[in-house]
Amino acid sequence: MNYLIYARKYRPKTFEEMIGQKPIVQTLQNAIKNNRVAQAYIFSGMRGVGKTTAARILAKALNCQSGPTATPCNKCEFCKEINEDRSVDVLEIDGASNRGIDEVRSLREGVKYRPLHSRYKVIIIDEVHMLTREAFNALLKTLEEPPPHTVFIFATTEFHKVPATIVSRCQHFEFKKISQKDIINHLAYITQKENIKVSSYGLDLIAEAADGSLRDAQSLLDKAVAFSGEIISDEDLKEVLGTISKEILFAFSGAVLGQKPEEIFPLVEKVIELGYDLRFFYKELIQHFRNLLLVKSIKKPQDLLPLNEEDINDLMKEAEHASQEELLRYLVVLQQGEQELKFSSHPRIYLEVFLVKLCHFKKITDLKDIMRDLEEIKKEMKAPAGKPFPRNILNDTPPIENRTQDKKGPESVTPEGEEKLSPGIGEEKGKREREIEMAMKDPSVQSFMNIFKARVLSIKPVERTEKKE
Ligand SMILES: Nc1ncnc2c1ncn2[C@@H]1O[C@H](COP(=O)(O)OP(=O)(O)OP(=O)(O)O)[C@@H](O)[C@H]1O
Ligand SMILES: [Mg+2]
Ligand SMILES: [Zn+2]
Repeated sequence: MNYLIYARKYRPKTFEEMIGQKPIVQTLQNAIKNNRVAQAYIFSGMRGVGKTTAARILAKALNCQSGPTATPCNKCEFCKEINEDRSVDVLEIDGASNRGIDEVRSLREGVKYRPLHSRYKVIIIDEVHMLTREAFNALLKTLEEPPPHTVFIFATTEFHKVPATIVSRCQHFEFKKISQKDIINHLAYITQKENIKVSSYGLDLIAEAADGSLRDAQSLLDKAVAFSGEIISDEDLKEVLGTISKEILFAFSGAVLGQKPEEIFPLVEKVIELGYDLRFFYKELIQHFRNLLLVKSIKKPQDLLPLNEEDINDLMKEAEHASQEELLRYLVVLQQGEQELKFSSHPRIYLEVFLVKLCHFKKITDLKDIMRDLEEIKKEMKAPAGKPFPRNILNDTPPIENRTQDKKGPESVTPEGEEKLSPGIGEEKGKREREIEMAMKDPSVQSFMNIFKARVLSIKPVERTEKKE
């Protein structure tokens, strides 16, 4: 009977109870203490961060029997009326469903009269950015000559849509996202009060999904309790939150580590089909690669990973397909992509291209290695006259697969009919050629050489017309 969703049950009733938003709370309290309350405020910020809550506390602060006071009592008739949503002098209007000029006109009529029995009339317009242009114009007239004993509080999640003419007549407060830490602490407080068992990893998961909105965090907890009862396992929670399943994450890491770009497209399709937000998925993927690196890097990963033994073993098996250095590089690159994905106008395409590139990542060699190989080649080029120029540099480079499978040794570098190294130059030359051969097998050097070759050929087309193999 008395069931109340947590967002309502735990709505702060005083400024002190508000979480975060300290500068705003302090400014409002000082304004009340110093009798400098503005006639119009704009509270902007994302959903569920305390805009309406603060507006109601301000209304109580102004109207409390023992006020105006920065600490409304919540006991007097005025405070109670506001808490129970039945005050005739505190109006909460939904801007989305009362967006026309007629509604604003009747509002203007209403504020002409003094408050019925409170000190102040407080008009809270939620989602004020939804008003029509005409409605804003009508509102502007009221703000130019605000009736005494009336305070307007406009709340909006889309501040940029509120006309500058309105903004310039209001005091503006930008409500911030609630920090992860504050959300976790608040959830821990509720679960303790309500006797709900959730692991600290579970609280992390909820806070992460709430992404700065305290109301979202409370609603997710509501949902989890409805799903599991008072004991909420991590698995249940993942299901409620729609956390990306382990299988999908492993399928992605399998494609990347196994260098199978063709698997990326159907996998991204699946993620979309399942209705996951791509940015949320991407975050989870980063976390997954971080876990892979972690199990590869430390002896007792179970101390740091809140996962069961089976999950950790799976991670270890997967991590065998890459070196620690490679995993580190994947992780760094994935992190770099996060911001771009966030702002991409085509997140799906961005994600596909990015992950396909990641599948080819193993073939890319460290810049240091490339520089070292090039140094070797440079040395070779400076070799005394008369020594044969290494063939590979100017000849077409065979495809990678052929070359890496080429086990015939340095001799095979010289094709039939071409002059072989003179036997007099001996062992040292064979070794040098082998080294060059090795360096040339590197795909990065190959692509560099292809560009180099193209340049050389375009400079001297006649002299360099070489027969193709
Ligand atoms: N800063 C906060 N401190 C404590 N509780 C908060 C805070 N912000 C939100 N909450 C919780 O979330 C609920 C909803 O908050 P509120 O209605 O004030 O959000 P809002 O910013 O007006 O969101 P919306 O833009 O969706 O209207 C509150 O009842 C309260 O339980
Ligand atoms: Mg609100
Ligand atoms: Zn009171």
